[in-house]
Amino acid sequence: MKKQKHVPVMAREVLELFQPKPGERYLDLTAGYGGHASAVLDYIGKEGSMTLVDRDEEAIRALTALFKGNKQVEIIHQDFLTASKALLQQGSKYDMILADLGVSSPHLDNPDRGFSFASEGPLDMRMDRTQTLNAAEIVNTYEADQLAKLFRDYGEIRNAHKLARRLVEHRPYKSTSELAKKIVQLRRSKKRRHPATEVFQALRIAVNDELGQLQKSLDVWMELLADQGRIGVISFHSLEDRLVKQAFNDYGGNRYDARLHIVTKKAVTAAEKEVVFNPRARSAKLRVAQRK
Ligand SMILES: C[S@@+](CC[C@H](N)C(=O)[O-])C[C@H]1O[C@@H](n2cnc3c(N)ncnc32)[C@H](O)[C@@H]1O
Repeated sequence: MKKQKHVPVMAREVLELFQPKPGERYLDLTAGYGGHASAVLDYIGKEGSMTLVDRDEEAIRALTALFKGNKQVEIIHQDFLTASKALLQQGSKYDMILADLGVSSPHLDNPDRGFSFASEGPLDMRMDRTQTLNAAEIVNTYEADQLAKLFRDYGEIRNAHKLARRLVEHRPYKSTSELAKKIVQLRRSKKRRHPATEVFQALRIAVNDELGQLQKSLDVWMELLADQGRIGVISFHSLEDRLVKQAFNDYGGNRYDARLHIVTKKAVTAAEKEVVFNPRARSAKLRVAQRK
């Protein structure tokens, strides 16, 4: 059997909470390798429709091959903020909207993409390789103060200033492993995690403006939801989850004018048996809400 390039996280929970029905419209903002989309397609049947968005051209190629010739499926190669605004402008509405945030397994598995400190690769980290800003530019040209802010805000690193100053002293860095080695020398970590984990997370978030994309998109997604429409967001770190929780609370809650019913009072996490075969699922949190 062919190995799946990316195993979708909490697919069963998404289906249980979305309850897809024949003929419904599905918007997948991070369609990746089509795992969640394929699962939903089985339920919405021939009368349903799907719009699949991803900013990564490799994912777009995979999606195009997977849904080749299927007229129900529209595929958009764009970041989800730009795509969502365009869909809103067209007057589109959806019964289900899913955002499964962050990187895919092929991003981490391919050293050429530069996401992983565990293998030698260029300091890239762009999800969309048509964009110009990459990790090398940030690490090798940003002022120490700018780097420190990014380490603090996106990596939640204590002593961010000291680390940024010392990293700047040893520039330039040519590869992921060169940077990772220097971080190991400069940073003692008492945690079981590799000392470069938070720095790589911070750089990745900055390169792809991940939090900016999410924060600005959440309002647009609320407008794209049809009456009774369900929205689900799967996040992989607390910075993202906080934004989702806040937006759901802003639109939901017990107020007389609340527009959302919050379906998951607490974020849903993956079952232990899923985590065993898909370790990526360990940090995933799913929140679902429904438009009133
Ligand atoms: C965790 S994977 C999604 C996997 C997908 N649910 C599946 O079943 O295969 C995240 C995907 O979202 C894409 N992505 C992340 N942020 C994005 C953004 N702001 N706009 C568009 N795509 C984004 C990445 O390129 C990646 O392919």
